[in-house]
Amino acid sequence: MTIQDTVPTTGPATGEERRPHAPRNDRIRRALDHIRNDSTDEFDGVNGFTAVEFTDPEIARRERDAVFGRVPSIVCHGSEIPKPNDFLTLQMPRNKIIVVRQKDGSVKSFVNLCRHRGALLEEQEKGRCRLFSCGYHRWSYDTDGSLRAITRDNTFGEIDRSKFGLIELPTEERHGFVWVVDDADAEIDVAAWLGPDMDEILGGYGMDTLVSARAEGFDEPVNWKIMQDAFLDGYHIQYAHPNTAAKHIHTNVMAVEDFGRHARFIAPRKTIDKFLEEPPAPDEDLSKYVTETHFLLPNSTLLRQPDHFELLTFRPHPTDPGRCRMEMRLVVPTVEDSGMDSERWNRIWDKNWKILLAVLHQEDFPLLRSSQAGMTSANAGGMVLGRNEYVNQIFHRELKKLTS
Ligand code: FES
Ligand SMILES: [Fe+2]
Repeated sequence: MTIQDTVPTTGPATGEERRPHAPRNDRIRRALDHIRNDSTDEFDGVNGFTAVEFTDPEIARRERDAVFGRVPSIVCHGSEIPKPNDFLTLQMPRNKIIVVRQKDGSVKSFVNLCRHRGALLEEQEKGRCRLFSCGYHRWSYDTDGSLRAITRDNTFGEIDRSKFGLIELPTEERHGFVWVVDDADAEIDVAAWLGPDMDEILGGYGMDTLVSARAEGFDEPVNWKIMQDAFLDGYHIQYAHPNTAAKHIHTNVMAVEDFGRHARFIAPRKTIDKFLEEPPAPDEDLSKYVTETHFLLPNSTLLRQPDHFELLTFRPHPTDPGRCRMEMRLVVPTVEDSGMDSERWNRIWDKNWKILLAVLHQEDFPLLRSSQAGMTSANAGGMVLGRNEYVNQIFHRELKKLTS
C-alpha cells in the first residue's frame, strides 16, 4: 500500500471513468467525512483465519487449481509484446508459459514445453522470434503453436503433427492487459469475470493506449496471500511506513465499493486536509487529493494515480506455499501522448520507480517475510481480520468461494 507514495508528476490524465457507479466526488467526500470522524468504511464483521492457510501444501494446490486454473489473471501489459512474434515467458502457478503476439495482432499463450520429449522450449524471459526451436533435438514450432519441423523425420516415424503442436492456454487481451487462465481445458471471458461494474470502470481508463514503462518481478519467501493482503491494507501505513507513505496518505481511512467479487477504494492523501476546515465547493474536482485502488480478484492491485497506473500482481509458487512472485508495473502515457521529450519521460518514471522499489525492499518485504516466518509455528493460534480491513475481507471472502 506504500506504493501510493509516489512522486507527483505532470502529464495528461489517465482517462476519465464513465461513472455508472457512485460518482467519484461523492466517494471522495465520504473519505473526507471519515477523516473528520476518525472512521472508515467497515465490513460487516470480524473474521478469523489460521496459519495453515499460508503453509499447507494441500491448500496451496487447491488454490492453484481452483483459482488460477479457473479464472483469468493478468500476466503482462500488451505493450510489453507490441509486435508480432514478440514473446515473454513466465511461471504461472500451474504451468510455465510463453505469451506471444500473433501475426494478426492477437495474443496466444502456450505451455513452455517441447512436445517431443518435454524440454523447456524457450529459455529467454523476453524476445522476438519467428520460430520456437527446441535445443534438445531441434524440433521447431510456429509462433501460433503449430509443429513446424521434425528433424531427421525420414527416420522418426509417422506421427499426426496436428496433435503435437504446443499446448494452448486460454488467453485474452482486454483493457490493455493480457489475461490467462492457467489450465488448457478452461475457457476465458474476461468481461464476464470482471462483471459489468469493473469491466466498465477499467474500460473507461483507456489503459490500452498506455505503455508499461517499467516492469519487474520479485521472488519472495512469502505466501502470495500475505503479499496480496499487504497491498490492500490501509491500516498499516503509519506504523510500517512512518517516514514514507504515511507522510502522504491517511492511515485507516477508506471509502470502499464492493462489487461482489472485485472492489475499489478511495484512500485520501494528506493534501485533502485543507478541506477539513473549509469544505470544498460542490463542483470542486477532488481527484488529485486521493489514490484510487482496484482489487481485481484473484491476485492484482491496480492503483490509479492522477497521471498513471501501478499494477501489482501476486502469483503462488508452483509447489511451495511459502513462496510467491510479485510483479510490479508502471503503466503510463506514451512519450508522444505525454507531451514530454523521452529524456524527461524516462527521468520522471525512473524517479517514480526508484521510490516504489525502495519502499518495497526496505519496508514491505522485510515485514512480509517475517509474517510468513511467524506462520510456520505449530501453535500459531487463531488470528483475525477486522471490520476496518474491508478489502482484505472481500479478498478472503471471494477466495473462499472459489476454493470451497
Ligand atoms: S525434446 Fe525438444 S526436440 Fe527433442
Ligand atoms: Fe506497505
